[in-house]
Amino acid sequence: MAAVAFGVDIGGSGVKGAPVDLSTGELLAARVRIPTPQPSVPKAVAQAVAQVVQSFGDDVKDLPIGITVPCVVADGITRSAANIDAKWIDYPAAEALSRAVGRPVTLLNDADAAGLAEAYYGAARGQAGLVIVTTLGTGIGSALIYNGVLVPNVELGQLEIDGFRAEVRAAARIRAQEDLSWTAYSARLQKFYATLEFLFTPSLFVVGGGISRSSDKFLPHLSLKTPIIPAQLRNQAGIVGVARYTQS
Ligand code: BGC
Repeated sequence: MAAVAFGVDIGGSGVKGAPVDLSTGELLAARVRIPTPQPSVPKAVAQAVAQVVQSFGDDVKDLPIGITVPCVVADGITRSAANIDAKWIDYPAAEALSRAVGRPVTLLNDADAAGLAEAYYGAARGQAGLVIVTTLGTGIGSALIYNGVLVPNVELGQLEIDGFRAEVRAAARIRAQEDLSWTAYSARLQKFYATLEFLFTPSLFVVGGGISRSSDKFLPHLSLKTPIIPAQLRNQAGIVGVARYTQS
């Protein structure tokens, strides 16, 4: 396994990248972040990705590159676009991004990358059985990891519960948008995680996304049989997880 790879995380508000030490999961240089172009059409985003990679100059020119996208990814084609421009649907993203950065790239769903990072280096390290990592942000992303192996493209944020897609009720953005108290927001999370628990009987839930910093405000309100803990890699999880994924 290469000891170092470069990870890029395409998010709703920023495109972030850094080289990662794969033996520790630590960033080898401060990450560079530039705002995600609006509208977030593939061509403009690909240029932003190239700009992030180029900002590290020759230091990273031989490193494998992994890139996260907030989309379902199959064979390098992005198949969904819940929280990014609709032009990403059925778009040959791996090809376009490779052209933009000038070498082959590996693509992965953003939540899958965050999940791998937690499984290899973070909160779910060494955890046997099924781990469900959820990211609560603009939408809800999810990763299913069974005995350390990722089952990619599982979209639990799109699960319909009580007539609504889970992410339009319980994403972190919705809490802010509807000005929900932590108690009211926790009730929505309770419904979400209780449904997942019923369907999957996981060994562990890990909660990521920016809101995991405030996990003491909502985790104590949840009543589940499954342990539920905050993610550890915070806003580096996507970069670290996708860098690691270049080696699989
Ligand atoms: C998308 C997922 C993505 C998540 C987090 C959801 O809207 O459907 O693919 O992982 O947002 O960005």
